[in-house]
Amino acid sequence: MTDMASPLALPLALVVLAAGKGTRMKSDLHKVLHPIAGRPMLLHLLASADALEPQRKVVVVGAGREQLAAALGDSAELAVQDPQLGTGHAVQQAEGALAGFAGDVLILYGDVPFVRAETMRAMLERLHRADNPAVVVLAFEPEDALQYGRVIADGGVVQKMVEHKDASEAERACRLCNSGLMAVRGEELFKLLARVGNDNAQGEYYLTDIVNVANEDGRVCAVVVTDDPDEVAGINSRAELAEAEARWQHKRRLAAMADGASLVAPETVWFAWDTVLGRDVTVEQNVVFGPGVTVADNVVIHAFCHIEGARLESGTSVGPFARLRPGAVLEEKARVGNFVEVKNAVLHAGAKANHLTYLGDADVGAGANIGAGTITCNYDGYFKYRTVIGERAFIGSNSALIAPVKIGADAIVAAGSAVSRDVADGELRLVRAEQLVKPGWADRFHDAMKRKKAERK
Ligand code: UD1
Ligand code: MG
Repeated sequence: MTDMASPLALPLALVVLAAGKGTRMKSDLHKVLHPIAGRPMLLHLLASADALEPQRKVVVVGAGREQLAAALGDSAELAVQDPQLGTGHAVQQAEGALAGFAGDVLILYGDVPFVRAETMRAMLERLHRADNPAVVVLAFEPEDALQYGRVIADGGVVQKMVEHKDASEAERACRLCNSGLMAVRGEELFKLLARVGNDNAQGEYYLTDIVNVANEDGRVCAVVVTDDPDEVAGINSRAELAEAEARWQHKRRLAAMADGASLVAPETVWFAWDTVLGRDVTVEQNVVFGPGVTVADNVVIHAFCHIEGARLESGTSVGPFARLRPGAVLEEKARVGNFVEVKNAVLHAGAKANHLTYLGDADVGAGANIGAGTITCNYDGYFKYRTVIGERAFIGSNSALIAPVKIGADAIVAAGSAVSRDVADGELRLVRAEQLVKPGWADRFHDAMKRKKAERK
């Protein structure tokens, strides 16, 4: 971490607290794994911290550690806190994992997922200013200070940290609140924590007390104040989760428009964390993007589409009312119209499926035309099979293509055919009963029946 590209002077370790019970979510899923924009909130947090190139990441977990282990893989270490005796005690559980680590430690909360990397960087920079603070606290000034711990500070220097339950009336009148996030040097953190007791209103080991302990030694502790209370907003309930989602979506819509996409009704378009949109893309009303979607330039997505795991190349058009599922690829100028579902299927350049169709596990050749009501029958209840359709092939309406099956280039499948054997290039395939033609039969039938009915009266 000494090269020019590296923005921070010292190696960085993250300690992310996530051992709280999350009772108010009323969920079997660990609180920090609840998704926002299709990605667990904890992974949003770790992704923004990645901008600082942390060397170590330790997540402190209590219940639900298997869920966290599965979600994190080897991207972070886990430290277990059992029982949960407070935020200071939680950070102490990372001591083993950080043994021998010499660098800065940034303490984050897994349920405060949208702290900006700039803010984290500002905290670490403050830690290395000339007055050599022992601790840097991230504070904010909410509209309503509620139950937050208070930061009693003067000129950016913290005099005292006090929890709401332990605070005097005068201290509660202070509007500067503790976000909970802190930056501390690795070699000091655990020494300070070892001196923290639990003689307070909640009988807990408060992380905030490391500031008070350092102050006793005559050390400076500094506060960085964010001007955006939203970035330190914690998520404790489903309602707060929905609010965080709404804020995220609002920002993403503005970013999409700033980057050259037209959103006809921005508030009705829902993005995933990784949606990629090109320029001159138009997204009409009520479109939902699931994860894994890439949209190139000059694409139109008409109203009421659900798109996930799909790639739309330039000049393509989708919907209205289309569903693109994982593995859907629309190459240049391909079109998918209303009530069409595409899964694990490629429509090569200029191919069209404009109405009422299911294309699953398929390869549709360039310029092919898939008629209304075409179904690829890709599943026999046990296995999935592929349908391969050649270039410029024409599939008549209401055809069932029973996979595995190949339709050759320039072939025509007659409407209403159930095709279960390969069709050669240039062939016409017609799979339906011979037509019986009886001129005048219906007229004679009606006459006879009308007579019969009259006789019975
Ligand atoms: C904490 C701060 C408070 C601050 C507030 C901001 C302390 C003592 N208080 O209070 O000053 O204003 O956050 O929201 O630090 N956690 C553990 N193990 C524990 C306890 C908590 O991992 O034993 C984790 C939780 O999962 C959560 C975070 O720490 O991510 C904060 O815990 P919480 O109980 O919400 O702390 P507060 O009492 O709200
Ligand atoms: Mg809290």
